Amino acid sequence: MPALLVTYPTPFLRLSDSGSFGSAALIYSQSHLREDMSSNEGYRAKILPILTRTVQYTTPFISVFLLVHLSAPALANVGGSSLASQTMLLGREYYQTALSEPLLVLGPIGIHAASATLKRLLSPSGQPPRRLTHPVSVTGYATLFFLTIHYLTHRYYPALDIPPIDSLGPAELDYEFVKAALRTWPIRSWLLYGGLVFFSIMHVVDGGALVRAAWVQEGRIFASFLKKQYSRRKRLALALGGVVLPVMTGVYALANEPSMTFASMTTRYLSVFRSSFAYRL
Ligand code: HEM
Ligand code: HEM
Repeated sequence: MPALLVTYPTPFLRLSDSGSFGSAALIYSQSHLREDMSSNEGYRAKILPILTRTVQYTTPFISVFLLVHLSAPALANVGGSSLASQTMLLGREYYQTALSEPLLVLGPIGIHAASATLKRLLSPSGQPPRRLTHPVSVTGYATLFFLTIHYLTHRYYPALDIPPIDSLGPAELDYEFVKAALRTWPIRSWLLYGGLVFFSIMHVVDGGALVRAAWVQEGRIFASFLKKQYSRRKRLALALGGVVLPVMTGVYALANEPSMTFASMTTRYLSVFRSSFAYRL
């Protein structure tokens, strides 16, 4: 009989037997279940530090992209859409080549968001994830929401080779495109640009502090100004006043500029935005 137990270890066979053999088999199956669960927890505990490192090491790439990308709307304060477009054109040399777009922008953002979410889903019971209402989590998922709409309307749909969009080329997609959206859908454009900039920068403030703290502890940070611990209030004020405000006043300058493009191009721009549910609602 014990030999049978080892030969047929499926719970169905064991539980279908009767008497003391049945209960012995039940204990056997329960202890195996416990072993499985603890090895599963062990596996999760091992994978967690790998995910944490992946989340951390993708952040410098995303931060540099944000700095380059947001310089364009911020410079609209001094030179309007013309300077914003020229700055974006220069920036694209860094982040929109065949190699740099997947390696420096889309890859790091996708891997960062996926690893951070996986970390939450795989956390073993002994190491629960931070609560969903934590500022890093709220701003992380809010950024993901706004960024999905932004990426589709500003990068994916413009490339579609269908009339009347007819695949907008890099020279055709300049800040006249942003102005067309601001003019046609002022409220939702303000909400979508404002939401994206606000939540992503707030996420960098709190997420950046976590990464900084971990790297200072591990001795990976050498610059003394990065080692200095600023209060959260000070960091929020710096980020709001130094980044969010100039970017959004730049958007204001763009919204108040008259259109400087052909009507046929405006039709193509608007049809890009109408491809998204966010502009059709
Ligand atoms: C008011 C603020 C913003 C404006 C006016 C703006 C404008 C644009 C424009 C015109 C494009 C298409 C041209 C290009 O590829 O550069 C674009 C693409 C993109 N934007 Fe923004 N953006 C803003 C904020 C942001 C923020 C805060 C993020 C990230 C959190 C972001 C992420 C992206 C990404 C990932 C692309 C696609 C880039 C690529 O694949 O090469 N944008 N944006
Ligand atoms: C636009 C790009 C970004 C997106 C879409 C994004 C998205 C996310 C998401 C969805 C989470 C998961 C939150 C949770 O489950 O609790 C997260 C976590 C995090 N993010 Fe970001 N993030 C971005 C950029 C950044 C940047 C630039 C930094 C730092 C400078 C950063 C630092 C962090 C940190 C430290 C965490 C916590 C990870 C952990 O639990 O260990 N993120 N992010």
